[in-house]
Amino acid sequence: MTWRHIAAAVALASLAGAAATPASAQAKKTPVAAGAASAAAPAGSAIYAERFRNVCAACHGDDGRSDMAGTPVLAGQYSFYAITQLFLFREGRRKNEAMIALAKPMTDADMRGFSDYIGTLPPVPAPAPATPPDAARMSKGLALAQQHKCTFCHGADLAGGQQVPRIGGQKHDYVLATLQGFKSGDRPGYTRAMTEALSQVPVEDLDLLAYYVANLAGK
Ligand code: HEC
Ligand code: HEC
Repeated sequence: MTWRHIAAAVALASLAGAAATPASAQAKKTPVAAGAASAAAPAGSAIYAERFRNVCAACHGDDGRSDMAGTPVLAGQYSFYAITQLFLFREGRRKNEAMIALAKPMTDADMRGFSDYIGTLPPVPAPAPATPPDAARMSKGLALAQQHKCTFCHGADLAGGQQVPRIGGQKHDYVLATLQGFKSGDRPGYTRAMTEALSQVPVEDLDLLAYYVANLAGK
């Protein structure tokens, strides 16, 4: 049992209305897994694909990566993680006016449908930066990420899995804001994982961590 499996099992057990798929059966995103999911509910998934394009894509982009400031990349994110966040928005615990307004009327089936659709979006790498990331900052960022065990939960490549979000290649401004939010208590997590992970990280190191995370090419 790894930490990820335990957290995933806890999240599943407590998520009202979520389909009871054992965490261990939720394979990492592969074309096969995505295909299997859509084969199970073809009509439902087509509906949420369309609703995503009509409603969500305006901010998040058709492929799940837009260049709108402060708007997280959803491409490559896990269904499991996405549903925990939609749940937090629906409860008004995670604060963002637009997302709260969108999540409030969602049924459990809607949250599941949107999350499953998000889970089928393949990762979209960040556009190549004008100048390559600063090597010294990247190696300091890596050292911090190892020291504070970010890589323990999010993986060495920061690709996450299941309830642990993919963060490699996520947008800098968004990552910094989330780290500040977890640190100040403004963004409550679904679990206390991030609050605890950041308890020993000085506020002045958050930007360096965000720089490292955002510039680590995801896969
Ligand atoms: C008006 C713009 C806007 C629209 C439309 C929108 N979102 Fe969002 N979404 C955001 C922003 C901004 C955030 C980040 C909020 C924050 O900073 O906490 C977000 C966060 C999220 C997250 C959490 C991502 C993460 O990495 O934690 C999910 C999941 C999500 N949105 C799904 C959706 C879905 C599904 C829809 C359509 C039903 C949708 N969004 C429509 C702006 C939008
Ligand atoms: C004990 C496991 C664990 C550790 C250690 C950990 N994280 Fe997390 N992280 C999580 C989980 C779980 C979430 C989902 C938050 C929630 O519960 O709502 C998360 C969320 C995040 C997010 C928000 C992603 C998004 O899309 O909104 C960022 C950014 C992040 N972590 C960065 C880090 C960094 C940087 C470190 C190291 C300082 C770190 N994490 C250490 C488990 C961990």
